[in-house]
Amino acid sequence: MGEAKPVKLTEIKNTQTKRIVTWISELDRVLGGGIVPGQVVLIAGEPGIGKSTLLLQVADKLSDLKTKSSVLYVSGEESVGQIKIRADRLGINNKNIALLESTNIDEIIDQMSGLEIGSDKTVAGKSFLKNSTSYNSPLTSCLIIDSIQTMQTTDLSGMAGSVGQVRECAYRLVKLAKSSGIPVFIAGHVTKQGSIAGPSVLMHIVDTVLWFEGDKTLPVRLLRAVKNRFGPTDEVGIFSMGDKGLNSEEHPEKFFLSDSKKTIPGSVISCVINGTRPLLVEIQSLIVPSKLVIPRRVAQGIDSKKLELLLAVLSRRCGLSIYESDVYVSVMGGINIKNDPSVDLAICISLASAFFNKAVDRKMVIFGEVGLLGEVRNVVLQDKRLKEARRLGFRDFVTSARFDFLQKAISAYFK
Ligand code: TYD
Ligand code: MG
Repeated sequence: MGEAKPVKLTEIKNTQTKRIVTWISELDRVLGGGIVPGQVVLIAGEPGIGKSTLLLQVADKLSDLKTKSSVLYVSGEESVGQIKIRADRLGINNKNIALLESTNIDEIIDQMSGLEIGSDKTVAGKSFLKNSTSYNSPLTSCLIIDSIQTMQTTDLSGMAGSVGQVRECAYRLVKLAKSSGIPVFIAGHVTKQGSIAGPSVLMHIVDTVLWFEGDKTLPVRLLRAVKNRFGPTDEVGIFSMGDKGLNSEEHPEKFFLSDSKKTIPGSVISCVINGTRPLLVEIQSLIVPSKLVIPRRVAQGIDSKKLELLLAVLSRRCGLSIYESDVYVSVMGGINIKNDPSVDLAICISLASAFFNKAVDRKMVIFGEVGLLGEVRNVVLQDKRLKEARRLGFRDFVTSARFDFLQKAISAYFK
């Protein structure tokens, strides 16, 4: 110990990290091209969003008979029987996946380290890993923990799922990963309120945090990298949940744009940037006379404060009297564009289109930020958005280059 010596920056060799591709294209995209040996990846999401499904699919892709790579899938939530039912549904019948029902983190780690504990017969995973040649080539093996909230160590007194247990178990898994080079995937639950003993505790410990989100009633799922020591942190993967598990969606437009050929008042198309990827979305508005003293303003997929603000601009700068109407705005496909200012112009045109009951051309893509003076501003990554829209066959772009003020756009299309 104490032998650590400083090294000159210029003397450090440029080592290219070898990545293991998962062959799940959207996952690879989010990871930055695959996993790195010894990487610890946390997949966080609400119960029922599809974490176990994704992890079982990862297990299938990473375990390969030809290369003799194997995966140990540890479940503290479901019985092996339940996992088998899921595997059947996904069409996975892979001899190189071993399942282990356990909540004891030390037992699990001992399995992976090949240490002798108990008798060989008791646990499937141990003999499996011992006999498989993959144990000598840990780069191709992988450990999956589903979920971290069910794991515990007897060295601590807290219950599984408590902050102490979650942190300690994750710490031990990281130690295993770093010393053996075996990548580890960990599932972690988050509640709508943002759980205490969940991913926020783990954020600092693991290498990569992927947030799995979506509206459970719709097929679209977004996998968002919120932390990544080995890749980009703003990347988004798009999946759809089907009958046979999760599918990578490289062309997700079909979820976000309605396929109606007819033009309907209130519907416009815009382009948002999700991570680094441009995404065409459809915004729909509905304006109906209100019977309420304070009319309703309902925003789905956009911030409701933003809606209020844009309505104020429309009313004051463009003369739209919307104060006696209920206003509904929704983004198709259950996507949440939160505070992206680039949709401002599209929201305004959608509202105006609903207000005047006059449709706009569906071949038109609209984006731009709208200020309080009614001015239309440039948005970032304009070229990227235009390129994506062109790729999908759109030729007509409404941006700050065409209209410097919102009122000019409104007069051009609706008056
Ligand atoms: P699951 O992976 O169990 O979620 P988590 O581990 O995050 O709690 O997936 C739960 C949902 O996904 C469940 O409601 C059923 C649905 N599902 C499908 O729609 N298709 C499938 O092929 C599978 C396996 C699950
Ligand atoms: Mg699960």
